[in-house]
Amino acid sequence: MTASLEQLRRCHFAVDLGAARTRVYVKGAGLVVDQPSVAAVNTRTGALIAVGEFAERMTGRTPDYIRVVRPVTGGTVVDIEMAQRMLRHLLGDKVRRTLRRKPRLRAAACTPHNADPLAQRAAIETLVGLGARRVELVDTLIAAAVGCGLPVERPEASMIMVCGAAATEVAVLSLGSIVTAERIRVGGEAVDHAIVQHLRHQHELMLPSQNVRPLQLALSGNGLTSHGPTSTEIHGRDVATGLARSVQVDTAAVRHAIQTPLTAVLDGVGKVLRVCPPDLVADLADRGIMMVGGSALLPGFDQMLRQATGMPVHIAERPDICAVQGVGTMLEGRIQPLELDPLSS
Ligand SMILES: Nc1ncnc2c1ncn2[C@@H]1O[C@H](COP(=O)(O)OP(=O)(O)OP(=O)(O)O)[C@@H](O)[C@H]1O
Ligand SMILES: [Mg+2]
Repeated sequence: MTASLEQLRRCHFAVDLGAARTRVYVKGAGLVVDQPSVAAVNTRTGALIAVGEFAERMTGRTPDYIRVVRPVTGGTVVDIEMAQRMLRHLLGDKVRRTLRRKPRLRAAACTPHNADPLAQRAAIETLVGLGARRVELVDTLIAAAVGCGLPVERPEASMIMVCGAAATEVAVLSLGSIVTAERIRVGGEAVDHAIVQHLRHQHELMLPSQNVRPLQLALSGNGLTSHGPTSTEIHGRDVATGLARSVQVDTAAVRHAIQTPLTAVLDGVGKVLRVCPPDLVADLADRGIMMVGGSALLPGFDQMLRQATGMPVHIAERPDICAVQGVGTMLEGRIQPLELDPLSS
C-alpha cells in the first residue's frame, strides 16, 4: 500500500488525520497544523463555528443548536465532507493559497496499517476535495519509523509500537518493509474510557469529558507508576441526583482500571514476536522496542512493556508527531532509498 519514495518526493503536502489530532506537513514549510480533529457546527445554518483546540474546548458546553463533531473515528474518516471543511479551516488561507498555486497538487496521507479499501478511499476523497490531483498513501508504521529515526532501510530488524488514540499498532520492520504487524483497537481513548467507567461504577460519579485529561494528570506524572499520592480529589456529577459532587479516589484502583485495556496491547506485542523469524528476534533483543504516538507518553507504559517482554523499551523524542514528521522527511527527500547492489557474476 505504501507509495514509493519517488512518488512521495513529488508530493507537496502530507496529512495525518488521527482520531485525536490532525497534523499537516507542508513541503518546505514543515509542520503547519497540529490540532485536535474536532469541529463545531451550527445545526440550524450548517455553518462551521470552530475547529481544533477551540472546538474541543466547546465539547459538552454548547447550546442545542451547536454540535461538536469528530470527523475521524477509529482511525478512519467517517465524515468526508466535514473532514474537508475542518482541514480547510485548520490550514488557513495563507497555506491554502500557496498550495493552490501548485500546478498539479499532490498529497500524501498516513493510513493505519491494513486499512480497508473503504478507509483508504475516504482518506483519498478527503484530500481530493482539498484540491489534490493525486494522493499517495503511506502506512503509519513506516512513516512513524522514519520519523523517529529507526534504520528502516537496513537489513536489521526494528520493532515499533505506534500508540494512538483509537488503536495501537505494533510491527517488526526490516529492509524498508513490514515483516509482521498487528493492529489492536485499544489506544488512549480506551484508557480514558476505562477511567470514566471506573468512576461510574465505583463512585457513581459522571465525569465531564474534559475532566478525563486532568484526571490522568492527577495521577501523574505517575500514570501507571505507583509513586505519588494514594488518593486524589475528583469533581464530577452524581449519577443519580445529577448534582455536583467531589470524591476521594484511590489512585491504585484507577491504575488498575487503566491496566485492563492495556493487557490487550501486550497480547498484540506477544503475537507479533511469536510470528517473527528467529534471526530478527535476536536483533530485537538488543535494539528493543521504540514507542511512538501520543499515548506513548502515558507514564509507566514503557515500564509495563519492559516488564512484559524483557526487552529494552525506548520512547521517541517527540512521540506524538513522529508519523507526520516521517512522511515530511520522505517528502523532502531526506531519506536514502534502499539500494540492493545486483550480484556480479
Ligand atoms: N501525556 C500524556 N499522557 C497520556 N496520554 C496522552 C498524553 N498525551 C497524549 N495522550 C493520549 O494520546 C492520544 C493521542 O495520540 P495521537 O496524537 O498519536 O493520536 P492520533 O494519531 O490522533 O490517533 P490514531 O493514530 O489512533 O488515529 C490521546 O488519546 C491522548 O489521550
Ligand atoms: Mg496517529
